Amino acid sequence: MQNAIQVLKNAVEPLLKWYGENKRDLPWRGTHDPYKIWVSEIMLQQTRVEAVKGYYAAFLQKFPTAEALANASEEEVFKAWEGLGYYSRARNLHKAAKIIAERGFPRDFEGVRALPGVGDYTAGAICSIAYGLPCPAVDGNVLRVLTRLTADGRNIDENATRIAFSALLREVYPKEAGEFCQSLMELGAIVCVPNGEPMCALCPWQTMCLAHLAGEEEKFPVHSEKKARKIEEIFVYVLKKEGKFALRKRGKKGLLAGLWEFPNGAENESAIYGKVLAEKRAKHIFTHVEWHMTGYLVEAAEFFPQFLWATPEEIAQSYALPSAFKAFREWVK
Ligand code: ADE
Repeated sequence: MQNAIQVLKNAVEPLLKWYGENKRDLPWRGTHDPYKIWVSEIMLQQTRVEAVKGYYAAFLQKFPTAEALANASEEEVFKAWEGLGYYSRARNLHKAAKIIAERGFPRDFEGVRALPGVGDYTAGAICSIAYGLPCPAVDGNVLRVLTRLTADGRNIDENATRIAFSALLREVYPKEAGEFCQSLMELGAIVCVPNGEPMCALCPWQTMCLAHLAGEEEKFPVHSEKKARKIEEIFVYVLKKEGKFALRKRGKKGLLAGLWEFPNGAENESAIYGKVLAEKRAKHIFTHVEWHMTGYLVEAAEFFPQFLWATPEEIAQSYALPSAFKAFREWVK
């Protein structure tokens, strides 16, 4: 049995060659500007490349530098983030921009890692891609690729596994650090895909992947058992009066903190607000919770003062309304 380091060492060159020939042309791949790389990596946390593509250029146009981002209001930053989800990322991005505007972009791993919203993975990616430093970026996708390559049955949801593979990668990091970092991500995204069939016939590692050689691709990666999401039944009210709609700001803590929302709650209070004009069900899935929503379009009996009343144009311009409420937005017109 070969050891994992040797397997990995032999895998580096074929992967870099494959990446050079097959990488996708993504909007953040033409730059080494740490600010721009940082923005892309924060957007790419828990969010698919296809979803990020539509936001990245617009965000950088609005906030071309850390100074521009630092000088924006939190409300403006949320608005530019509207629909991307995991809004604590936007809050941290804004906080970090203020630090960067003052001190410059940090030049080493420790400094980058200390920015709000930046963990080991993101710091590794930024330092590899922007600075060419040999700092591994290991997430679930990279662990899937590596545990298949080495037929490693350790649970990839455990931090110890992530740390072990980070150490392994550090041993084999080539001078093309940014390319190597992204080649691992790329292989996981377009060839060594999760669930179903990895496309082994297209893989630069087909002659050396221990899982593939054993015909055991489906055994890897090993995960912890998933906990079921909690299901919450919620009633959502799109209150309309004289062309204005009711919004409410969510609290400072918890899910979607600080964002705007349609009034909602666990009890059906539609009749309290006025006359129901339409009703519709919708579902939104968060990481740990599912909202099962019943939405009501209501002709409001009055301008209830606990809410902010805004026109559809104002909502489109200035208020970040998360995707969870998307199904009910068509009533705002
Ligand atoms: N996921 C995280 N970072 C990425 C990057 N730089 N390119 C493609 N996918 C990614």
